[in-house]
Amino acid sequence: MRIVMAASEAVPFSKTGGLADVSTALAKALDALGHDVTIIIPDYRELRLKQQEKLPTVADTGMRFSLSMNGRYVNGGVNWTMLPDTSVKVLMISQPYYFDRPQLYMEAGEGYRDSCERYCFFSRAVLEVCQQMVLRPDIIHCNDWQTGLIPALLHAHHARRPGFENAASVMTLHNMAYQGRFWHLDMHLTAMEWRYFNMRQMEMFGDLNLLKTGIAFADQVTTVSPTYAKEICSPEGGEGLDSLLTYRNGDLVGILNGIDDTVWDPSADPHLPAHYSTAAIKPGKAECKAALQKRVGLPDRPNVPLFGMVSRMSDQKGLDLLADCADRLLFHDIQMVFLGTGDPHFENFLQHLAEHNPGKVAAVIGFDDGLAHQIEAGVDSFLMPSRFEPCGLNQMYSLRYGTLPVVRLVGGLADSVVDVNPATIQDNTATGFVFEEYSSTALAEAVERAVEVYRQPDVWHQLMINGMSIDWSWHTSAMRYADVYRQALERRHDRAN
Ligand code: ADP
Ligand code: GLC
Repeated sequence: MRIVMAASEAVPFSKTGGLADVSTALAKALDALGHDVTIIIPDYRELRLKQQEKLPTVADTGMRFSLSMNGRYVNGGVNWTMLPDTSVKVLMISQPYYFDRPQLYMEAGEGYRDSCERYCFFSRAVLEVCQQMVLRPDIIHCNDWQTGLIPALLHAHHARRPGFENAASVMTLHNMAYQGRFWHLDMHLTAMEWRYFNMRQMEMFGDLNLLKTGIAFADQVTTVSPTYAKEICSPEGGEGLDSLLTYRNGDLVGILNGIDDTVWDPSADPHLPAHYSTAAIKPGKAECKAALQKRVGLPDRPNVPLFGMVSRMSDQKGLDLLADCADRLLFHDIQMVFLGTGDPHFENFLQHLAEHNPGKVAAVIGFDDGLAHQIEAGVDSFLMPSRFEPCGLNQMYSLRYGTLPVVRLVGGLADSVVDVNPATIQDNTATGFVFEEYSSTALAEAVERAVEVYRQPDVWHQLMINGMSIDWSWHTSAMRYADVYRQALERRHDRAN
């Protein structure tokens, strides 16, 4: 199949969260299955800055296009490159006014005010590029609200245009908390007729809703774990879109993300000072721990349990629970290291915690890919007390790195971590510490269980082996996506006839 993967971010070019890892890793896995894959992303400033690093060379395709936005014509261009060691093509939509900015989506906690315009432009540009470059896609795979307009445009205008006769759309929901809701007058940016602005398609409580638009028009809808697929069909998890999702339940599939196990591999990770695998964990992991302690300014204590967290600092991630039980946790002889950026409220809290607990807590505010790898390898246990978590990648990275996750029983965390208890220790399925209630007491108890088990090195060692032995590669999930693509094509075919 010819697949176009449209996304607002993709590693190694741009990244704020898991979506960037998933767009690229899934594209690579589909390529390995023999499909013809093209990723289309915006050409952000970040990408150009990274050109100084060892990214593949980006060249101008020479293609130019022009779209009517806000009553004027906005010009765009297209750059291209290949994903290293694959046949995946990457096209980057360049429009300096929209995309040549310091950050991807926001600055100082404030989203860019013209987000709707930027991503309507991007979505429309994706179809323009498909047409002008004769990509003739079978599938346009859209991800999150930034590309939610594409299925609607495909349905309303492009279905009859040359190059789209057989194109079906798939919409993947990575996070229902971000829906791209804008005031109704932004409707004119979408190039869709006002008749689509109704409660079944593009409208929600008087606003334009681009995620809803994607769900309403896509031939198939997927999300990133089976548990999240169920959660979002309920009023508690649906963020107002549960009725629409329940209506589309027959076309909604939850496929657990995989991980790129060439990028996240403790036996070969270039960011690490030492390597290890299940054959010999201890010496390599101990060296990574010591190097991490040194790097973040914590005392070099090999036997103290070291907890870590790498996260977008948003409401989703359970930092409020951590704030509520920090004193109780720090009563124990433990160390903690945090890496993250986002909501200034949480950033301040962590900085404050580190300042008041020198030698026990370290906080690095910022985005640092290398340090994220070093934390995964260097800590003993990784914290993910999420309020909700569509999939979560860090718990899988942790398991691969022999780092035991402490997670809440929600979304993809529930689908990927098996709680430590006598039965699961016995049958070697235990991989981490799971708690259910969204409360600081439940989190503290889970961390305390981890501290207790840490004092039993043989049990801990077996738990590391259990986690490290699991195959999280994308191969199986990519095959499931290929099935979804086939179903989407059938649906598209049925509609056309
Ligand atoms: P989400 O997509 O909700 O942010 P995921 O767990 O799916 O959560 O993915 C987060 C990804 O972003 C992981 O690869 C994680 O390592 C990375 N990440 C998040 N914050 C940072 C940061 N401050 N520095 C480096 N990497 C980060
Ligand atoms: C979102 C979710 C996260 C998921 C990621 C990739 O950002 O918050 O849980 O792992 O997308 O699908």
